[in-house]
Amino acid sequence: MRIDVITIFPDYLNPLREALLGKAIQRERIAVGVHDLRNWTHDVHRAVDDSPYGGGPGMVMKPDVWGEALDEICGDGTGQVPRLVVPTPAGRPFTQRTAVRWSQEPWLVFACGRYEGIDQRVITDAARRMPVEEVSIGDYVLVGGEVAALTMIEAVVRLLPGVLGNPASAEQDSFSDGLLEGPCYTRPEVWRDQPVPEVLRSGNHAAIARWRRDQSLERTWRRRPELIEALPEGTLDARDREV
Ligand code: ADE
Repeated sequence: MRIDVITIFPDYLNPLREALLGKAIQRERIAVGVHDLRNWTHDVHRAVDDSPYGGGPGMVMKPDVWGEALDEICGDGTGQVPRLVVPTPAGRPFTQRTAVRWSQEPWLVFACGRYEGIDQRVITDAARRMPVEEVSIGDYVLVGGEVAALTMIEAVVRLLPGVLGNPASAEQDSFSDGLLEGPCYTRPEVWRDQPVPEVLRSGNHAAIARWRRDQSLERTWRRRPELIEALPEGTLDARDREV
């Protein structure tokens, strides 16, 4: 998978080179390009923003600079086009489902806005040539799209084949079955007066699976009841309903 990020703060994306993502780059599972939006400015001040039409606080990112940057980065000469992702608190929610869908794509481009946002005509124009999604990572406001892009890239890249050491980890994630994951334990058997739950030391695999499912249901019910309501019909068996 190829991933490009356009930003006025390229260093903000340095964590892409660390840990799991860094390894994915080294192993050539992903190729990452981070581009400084100011490279597409033509004035001495290298301005990327201007005051909003209609008045109001803040500044809006200029369409001409973004337009040229996207023309260059999203046209690789082969006719292939990327999926363009625009992080914004005004976007559709980014979820695990989105991450799974994007993990099938050959090429993603993230357009990170700052200030009040990017002139809407940039998004409309890009959508004439490529699929575009405006997405939010949650109901809070960050100062820009960079941290949101990092978050989404990490969620997508860990799903790619050969990136996680143990592919079963991704299959057992919170959300992969619509529920939160339950608690987990490692040695020692007793720590600060707290023993590891007996069943996990029993070696009874069926009992362990049932216990984990119960924990998962109970935690989801307490912390995120709306996820239980959203489960597709028939997901819960008779035993689940007793929890
Ligand atoms: N930019 C600022 N806040 C954001 C959010 N919550 N999600 C995505 N991009 C953002």
